[in-house]
Amino acid sequence: MTTPDPARLLALGRDYYLPVYKQREMIIERGQGARVWDSSGREYIDFAAGIAVCGLGHCDPDLVAALVEQVGKLWHTSNVFYSEPPLKLAEELVKASKFASRVFLCNSGAEANEAAIKLTRKWASKQGRPADKRVIVTFKGSFHGRTLGAVTATAQPKYQEGYEPLPGGFRYVDFNDLAQLEDAMASGDVAAVMLEPVQGEGGVTPAAPGFLQGVRALCDRHDALLVLDEIQAGMGRTGTLFAHWHDQVTPDIVTLAKALGGGFPIGAMLAGPKVAEVMGYGAHGTTFGGNPLAAAVARVALKKLASDEIAANVKKQSQALRDGIAAINGELDLFSEVRGRGLMLGAVLKPDYAGKAGDVLDHAAANGLLLLQAGPDVLRFVPALNIGDGEVAEGLQRLKAALSQFARQ
Ligand SMILES: Cc1ncc(COP(=O)(O)O)c(C=O)c1O
Repeated sequence: MTTPDPARLLALGRDYYLPVYKQREMIIERGQGARVWDSSGREYIDFAAGIAVCGLGHCDPDLVAALVEQVGKLWHTSNVFYSEPPLKLAEELVKASKFASRVFLCNSGAEANEAAIKLTRKWASKQGRPADKRVIVTFKGSFHGRTLGAVTATAQPKYQEGYEPLPGGFRYVDFNDLAQLEDAMASGDVAAVMLEPVQGEGGVTPAAPGFLQGVRALCDRHDALLVLDEIQAGMGRTGTLFAHWHDQVTPDIVTLAKALGGGFPIGAMLAGPKVAEVMGYGAHGTTFGGNPLAAAVARVALKKLASDEIAANVKKQSQALRDGIAAINGELDLFSEVRGRGLMLGAVLKPDYAGKAGDVLDHAAANGLLLLQAGPDVLRFVPALNIGDGEVAEGLQRLKAALSQFARQ
């Protein structure tokens, strides 16, 4: 088979894609573990992991085996018929979650959040609350997805501009501000509070100690649901399978996607006992949700990501990354702070370099490192959770080279 000309492929992207992303000028051809190779054979350390998706790195042999086995058996049944992989996955998710009674399987994070928003509304409606008393509170800096409901939950104007009229019934407050949340709930019209335990896209900002517990207490006081979006922070990324386990709270709904399929698209909404029986026959649905291929892969991903080995590695490599970034910063003085949890870390550029995260990413790619930003001022580190010592060390060396070039400019 002849290798297509990279320039020709890049032209296809420019000519035919809706230009809603600004891809880097490379064609990624293959990946193994925490490394990928482009079409010219150039190798990169991957600190991006497909935006926190490839939790087990690229082409994990157990995920490959699960997919290959399922590919020869059954691809799709729709939800009108049962098949084994999604049935088993549902049971395993319920058991792993320690709070959920039922699961709705879908295909992406936005869809999982849409399901959560709809479940919240249906719950409130069944309680006899009128439509104007089914408000969902979300937090400034949040990111919940791009569908119209999820983007309205996303309290960042840049994602909403031009898509008005937006669905009603959302209210926004400052993240980590319990007093503001208390005010926002005082009139008794709030049906749910929805948040990320660590805000991802908004800048890698963790919930402050005690914040989730405070939100839970306010939800209890006002008979509102606690909805946790663990699409980015869940599946072991913060060092525990679910990010909220650090905070010892019990949510009513949790949404998952990204690393759940290790790179194969799947999402899930986990519903606790208060809401699990609210949606009956015909209340919601999706053609592809719980697709046997996705579910077969997710079952293996869940088992591996829940292991003690992954938790230990996340802790170890998180510290290694923090130490490495601190050492680089000791020399170059670019960051005001490194924040986050586990292998979801953000390095915040100092005001002198505000808005320049994209430039750093260009230098990183030029030095053989795939890196992400979280907004214009924050570099985001979300590597595979099984990344090794050598790959972290090499990635840090390349980061240092990239940042030195950036600083010299
Ligand atoms: C916290 C969070 N929620 C929801 C989403 C949306 O997920 P998807 O892009 O799969 O729709 C994302 C994606 O970045 C996310 O980080």
